[in-house]
Amino acid sequence: MAEKASRPKAVSIGVEGVSKGFRGGVQALESVTLAAESGQFVSLVGPSGCGKSTLFNIIAGLIEPDHGTVHFGADDVTGTTGHVGYMLQRDLLLPWRTVLDNVLLGLDVARVPRRDSEPRARELLARFGLSKFAKAYPIQLSGGMRQRCAVIRTILYDAPVFLLDEPFSALDAQTRLLMQEWLLDVWDTLGKTVFYITHDLDEALYLSDRVYVMSARPGHVIADVAVALERPRDHAIRTSAAFLDYKVQLAALVRAEAEQSLAAEEVAPSGPSS
Ligand SMILES: Nc1ncnc2c1ncn2[C@@H]1O[C@H](COP(=O)(O)OP(=O)(O)OP(=O)(O)O)[C@@H](O)[C@H]1O
Ligand SMILES: [Mg+2]
Repeated sequence: MAEKASRPKAVSIGVEGVSKGFRGGVQALESVTLAAESGQFVSLVGPSGCGKSTLFNIIAGLIEPDHGTVHFGADDVTGTTGHVGYMLQRDLLLPWRTVLDNVLLGLDVARVPRRDSEPRARELLARFGLSKFAKAYPIQLSGGMRQRCAVIRTILYDAPVFLLDEPFSALDAQTRLLMQEWLLDVWDTLGKTVFYITHDLDEALYLSDRVYVMSARPGHVIADVAVALERPRDHAIRTSAAFLDYKVQLAALVRAEAEQSLAAEEVAPSGPSS
């Protein structure tokens, strides 16, 4: 393995003992501990509403946990912002801005002068296959291109860690496969730490070094699966015996969790009232 450059491109990130409840009585997260080592690609899967996006908001410092801490390298960054690039769930491009203006949105808001930000944006658009569309508007792009723009907008921050919340969930299955390959290429080129949320077990396995499985609400970690599939990965790996073994293992965990929460829902309404 090559020596890392002196300035760290990537940094480890994690949470320890994080709990979060919302007003109105929803307990979203209960004592969640998980981590991504520097340069790792780590995914988070779990039922809808189990607190995955809430966890990302906490890691990004947009909301504070009731208990627990967020670590960025050796630093405690709980409740502070600025250490990660964050692509929110349903992160949309603004229809009235061009591709270039969309990817520069965050830096414009942060008042980074265009003479500094624009060359870097153009370089990233070129490197990731969108330079011909710099002046196009979102409506002129395919769904896959729009999502690539949204990812580029996130990585333009050049943070050592990126949080990507279901970036490809709205795409058709075939485009999604292509976007996964594209994303691995981006990750390989940039060498950053990535935390990734998805409902798609294939996607989680194909991309990740590690997959955390979360329980139904209140969300906590029920499994931590190290994915020892060789890299670089291409689409052929999806049909390998090792890949399918992992998939069976993950699917069993997710299914057991779904069955438990379904059973709990069935019992709850007819249970004795206190
Ligand atoms: N600001 C808030 N105020 C009150 N409740 C909230 C708030 N944000 C999230 N919740 C609730 O917390 C729970 C967890 O929500 P969250 O969006 O984190 O789940 P998720 O795992 O990302 O779900 P999905 O897979 O559908 O995206 C949900 O019940 C949600 O309604
Ligand atoms: Mg979510």
